[in-house]
This record gives sequence, C-alpha cells and structure tokens, in this order.
Amino acid sequence: MSLRMRLRTETRAAHEQLDHIADGLDLTMRRDYIRFLLAHRRAYAALHAARIGLTDLLARRISQVDQDLAHFDIDATADATEDLPIDPDIEMIGLSYVILGSHLGAVQIAKQVGRSDDLSLRAATTMLTDQTLAPLWRDFVQASRNLPDTGADADRIILSATHTFSLFEAAFRSVIDADAA
Ligand code: HEM
Repeated sequence: MSLRMRLRTETRAAHEQLDHIADGLDLTMRRDYIRFLLAHRRAYAALHAARIGLTDLLARRISQVDQDLAHFDIDATADATEDLPIDPDIEMIGLSYVILGSHLGAVQIAKQVGRSDDLSLRAATTMLTDQTLAPLWRDFVQASRNLPDTGADADRIILSATHTFSLFEAAFRSVIDADAA
C-alpha cells in the first residue's frame, strides 16, 4: 500500500470523529457556521505558532477565516489557542496531508453552505473556496510516491497526521464547549 493510501486508511477513524462533530452542526445556520470557522482558526493558529511548517499557508488560511468572520462582524484575532496543545510528534508531511487534503472535503462543505438562505453566510466562504490548495495537494500526492510506505519514518508520518486531525477535533470541541458554558 502506498503512503498516500496508508494515510487515507489509517486516519479514517480520526476524520470520522470530525465528521461526527460536523453532523451535529448545521452549516447553513450562522451560529454553527461561525463555530466551524472559529474552530478552524483556532487549529490553524495553534499549528502556525508551533512553526512545524506550511507557515505562510497557515497564515493565509487564518487571514481567510478572519475575512469570513468579518461578514458577521466578528474579530477573532485575539482568540486564545493556548488551550490546544500541539503534539510533539506532528511533523511537516503528516501536517501537509491533513491541511492540503482538506480541500477535498471543502468542496462538499461549500455546497452545503451555499444552500443557506443567509446571504452573509454564503458570502463568507473565502477559506472553503480557496483554490490554492488543489495544486499543492497534487504536488504532495506526487512527492509522496517517493517516500517509503513502511518503516519508522512512514509510521511517524501517519501518527503525525492522526495528531493533526485530533487537534482539529479538540479545536471544534473547545469552540462548542465555550458556547455551551
Ligand atoms: C468538519 C467537516 C468535514 C467534512 C464534512 C469533511 C468531508 C470530507 C469528504 C467528503 C472527503 C472526501 C472527499 C473526496 O475524496 O473527494 C474529505 C477528505 C478529506 N478531509 Fe475532510 N471533511 C471535514 C473536515 C475536515 C477537516 C477539518 C480536515 C483537516 C483540516 C479534513 C481533512 C481531510 C483530508 C486530509 C481528506 C483527504 C482524505 C484522503 O482522500 O486521503 N477534513 N473530507
């Protein structure tokens, strides 16, 4: 099995945890879509601060989320990230898989958001419709063909991707829990 297939298969459960949280959100409604954006901002900001890699790309994603949140007059630039611990095992390749691969699901999420009756919400999709991830994802898939799919390095990449997914899960939970408090 290729590294790319291992990544997909072995992080499926971690992605399903996110799907499960998303199932509880109605992304056509302002309150839930804002939570969705804030969770992404929190995770991106924590990863950006950790300087693992993709620094410019993560900064751009944060600024896209900020643009989207501005449609709802929300300024999250002072949002705290310190409650999101970064696992020391997260490295660049596993991180890249999760961040770049996320555009595959974003297409479907953007369609869902596009069905909202709320015009501000439909306009607040800069992050979801970012076209720059697709070519970077293709480069990633191509480059991953030259990487071993077994051994300690491959295992570390898989673990790193799983931890990255878990960070997004923690970000979603922290935003939802903060709302419930
Ligand atoms: C929260 C709601 C989410 C939904 C409903 C969702 C949905 C999906 C869907 C439908 C796919 C498959 C797309 C395809 O193969 O054409 C996918 C793939 C993927 N998503 Fe998500 N996603 C969500 C969140 C996320 C987040 C927050 C991340 C990471 C930041 C992420 C990372 C990925 C990755 C890496 C893949 C590629 C899997 C692979 O083919 O190897 N997703 N997502």
